[in-house]
Amino acid sequence: MKRSALVLVAVAIMVNVAQAQPGPGRGQGFRGGRGPGMQGRGQGAEQHDARHDADRDVFQFLLSNHDKIKRTVKELPNGVETLTESSTPEIAAKIKEHVEWMADRIKTASPIRMRDPLFAEIFKHTDKIKMKHEDTDKGVRVTETSDDPYVAKLIQAHAKVVSGFVERGFAEAMKNHPVPDAKGSTPAVDKPTNPVIPKHGSVVRLPNAAHQPRQGTKVLIDVTRGSEPAEVNAAIEKIAKYLNIYAGGGAEPAKGQFAVIFHGDATLAVLNDDAYSAKFNTKGNPNLDLLHQLHEHGVELFVCGQTLISKDAKPEEVAVFVDTAVSALTVVVNLQADGYSHVPIGK
Ligand code: HEM
Repeated sequence: MKRSALVLVAVAIMVNVAQAQPGPGRGQGFRGGRGPGMQGRGQGAEQHDARHDADRDVFQFLLSNHDKIKRTVKELPNGVETLTESSTPEIAAKIKEHVEWMADRIKTASPIRMRDPLFAEIFKHTDKIKMKHEDTDKGVRVTETSDDPYVAKLIQAHAKVVSGFVERGFAEAMKNHPVPDAKGSTPAVDKPTNPVIPKHGSVVRLPNAAHQPRQGTKVLIDVTRGSEPAEVNAAIEKIAKYLNIYAGGGAEPAKGQFAVIFHGDATLAVLNDDAYSAKFNTKGNPNLDLLHQLHEHGVELFVCGQTLISKDAKPEEVAVFVDTAVSALTVVVNLQADGYSHVPIGK
């Protein structure tokens, strides 16, 4: 082997040995993978730092042996004092190891379990957390406090989660844990609302969920679903829901452009009252009120001219706020070329 190749092999061996050293306190250099990709949900797979797999092995061992762990938590005005122990020496050693590393993660702001809202919130406030721990014969006594009353609530909530890990093991570890408010209570899920289309297509606000509505989104809804003539077409209810989602389902309202093309079995849903009643022997068209509301909120409504005529109806019989297009095909092709996303609502 050449001399330069030997030097490279030696350097590689030294790096490997350095990475295999156990115990915290080797400074920041060994950590990797922090950054925006780790924040919050719906941003792709969570990146892991160099210590992640070793930490995971320890807490999986602890979770598997949760029934051999005893834990008491004393709430302090500004945090908690906890005692977590096991009479099995191997488990006691792993508790000590885990706490040592987690204290290091708090000290160096190196997050883990960022998909869980409570853990993500804790790692935003590591600079305000004071964590002291001392080994006992069978485990660890931890005092974790903060001068910030909100962070103290986070610490107390986290201590309850750890007690849940001890009580229920993996069943608790599979859960998301909510972030408490400043009073320590967890906010309830918002009630369904109808931000723009009243009485139709109600939505729940999910401000922290993945895939928030984006400003400037363009949506072409392609409706072919029919319905009972005397009832509102469920596809039109769905369009109301889409509008409500963009107006109030996410953290912020997002202004979008919506267009709808009716064809197939949905074609005649856009007829005026007289034409509809004559076709279906009803008292008017039950869809008109909702279609009018959609139009009032800026939704462009089109019907396929080809299908309309094949179903013995005329463009003059279509409600005044719906435009007859040459065909559904041309609407779909033209609006997709204009950047609209195609969302079909079929059978
Ligand atoms: C049976 C299983 C587990 C036991 C016995 C355990 C024990 C502990 C203890 C004693 C502490 C010190 C704080 C306190 O006492 O409240 C702690 C902190 C911590 N644990 Fe665990 N743990 C377990 C599972 C896990 C799991 C599954 C994770 C997930 C990554 C985890 C992540 C953390 C983190 C991030 C901290 C530091 C955050 C803080 O204390 O505010 N633990 N754990």
